[in-house]
Amino acid sequence: MEIAKDSDELRQRLKSVRGDGTVAFVPTMGNLHEGHLSLVRQGLTMAEHVVVSIFVNPLQFSPTEDLDAYPRTLEQDLELLTAEGVALVFTPGVEDLYPAGLEAHTKVTVPGLTDVLCGSKRVGHFDGVTTVVCKLLNLVAADIALFGEKDLQQLLVIRKMVADLRIPVRIESVPTQRNADGLALSSRNNYLTSEALGLAPALYRNLIAASDAIQGGARDYEGLCSGVIQRLNTLGFVSEYCEARRCSDLLPAQEDDTNIAIFCAASLEGTRLIDNIVIEHY
Ligand code: PAF
Repeated sequence: MEIAKDSDELRQRLKSVRGDGTVAFVPTMGNLHEGHLSLVRQGLTMAEHVVVSIFVNPLQFSPTEDLDAYPRTLEQDLELLTAEGVALVFTPGVEDLYPAGLEAHTKVTVPGLTDVLCGSKRVGHFDGVTTVVCKLLNLVAADIALFGEKDLQQLLVIRKMVADLRIPVRIESVPTQRNADGLALSSRNNYLTSEALGLAPALYRNLIAASDAIQGGARDYEGLCSGVIQRLNTLGFVSEYCEARRCSDLLPAQEDDTNIAIFCAASLEGTRLIDNIVIEHY
């Protein structure tokens, strides 16, 4: 497995890695778990070579968030990626990706989809995500890029950016990987104590209950979502939002919409967890 520590090295190494084969790209912030590895494995079924980036992107963290504490486990990540058969890992530094500094840097903003849900709670977060993903897609110039459905809003935002900016890459999504108890895999689960890890699966259990009710004919989305929030808060979560929205444009779900998702964000012991469930009903 080759490692490129900056954009110039990436350009050089990509030439030899690519040959005449196709490339799938998996952008990550490291601290890899089965969720990331499922993206890599999916990429290997779709392209000859997989390129992974590991970069904790400061631009997508607000000053009050966990940038400094975010788990960095590069050695372990590289071992995992070697075992999966990844061809090339890109591990740039902040100065390489943001040569003009974070503030003075050109930013990519996707309107609309980023004003709601996590976008309204984490102001500027999605500008940080789209700016770095746009840059990484330009640098790697892969045929395919893979993103997890756990960050469904992020996935929709990136799809729109790629379509709007005509970036020549195919975006593929991979289903959320979960523990046996239903908890969605996330690097932030590492922050949870064993007590919180016992409570955390209630987030997805409540989404399943709301989804079952909708499949059974319920259409009072607001009532169902406030029920989820109440039950989570009773268990000790601090809920941020739980909302039913259309998958196409993230507008609030209406009774006759057939492809909707319930999105939820809630904190446990100060650790912010997000999850979602997609519901197709006719
Ligand atoms: O989902 C993530 O890990 C990050 O938001 C991403 C896409 C790697 C951009 O920093």
